[in-house]
Amino acid sequence: MRIDIVTIFPGFFSVLDISLLGRARQAGLIEVVTHDLREFTHDRHRTVDDTPYGGGAGMVMKPEPWGEALDAIVGDGASDALLVVPSPAGEPFTQAIARELAAEEHLVFACGRYEGIDQRVVDHYAGRMRVRLISLGDYVLNGGEVAAMAMIEAAGRLVPGVVGNPESLVEESHQDGLLEYPSYTKPAVWRGHEVPPVLLSGNHGRVAAWRREQQLDRTARVRPELLGDAPGDTPA
Ligand code: ADE
Repeated sequence: MRIDIVTIFPGFFSVLDISLLGRARQAGLIEVVTHDLREFTHDRHRTVDDTPYGGGAGMVMKPEPWGEALDAIVGDGASDALLVVPSPAGEPFTQAIARELAAEEHLVFACGRYEGIDQRVVDHYAGRMRVRLISLGDYVLNGGEVAAMAMIEAAGRLVPGVVGNPESLVEESHQDGLLEYPSYTKPAVWRGHEVPPVLLSGNHGRVAAWRREQQLDRTARVRPELLGDAPGDTPA
């Protein structure tokens, strides 16, 4: 998978050099290239924003540097890449979308700042490639960078080979529409708190049933709206 990121803060993405995704990059499973939007300006101040037409507070990112930056990545015609624009006005990011992003060969993230990017950039590229506006959640960040990082991490770990043991992807929160069950390791008693005895029983059937019960119980308490989607269980 190839990931291009356009941002005015390329240094922000240096954390992608470390940990799981850093190893995936070294192994050649994921290629990440950051592009400084200011490199595509032509004035002395390397201006990327201007006041909004129609008035109002804040600044809007100018379309010209975005056009030059994105053309440098996808060419000047149609492209098979998916352009992801992190935006609080986008569709909510979910594990299902992470799976869809993980299946793409080429993702391009356009990280806006200020009051966002001139709408014509999205309108223009929507005529040449697939474009998705995606929101990390119902709150406002200072820009798309943190949201892009979250999406890259969530999708990147689903790329085959990135997580060493693919089974660990199966039994985690949201993969089956439920929250994950609680986990325990040694010692069996810590500060007076015992590990649930069923987990020490060696009975795989009972362990699986207990874990399922814990998933349903947790989900019902914390995220009841998810329960309608749990496969094989009647909604509570
Ligand atoms: N940019 C600013 N806020 C955001 C959010 N909630 N999700 C995605 N991108 C954003």
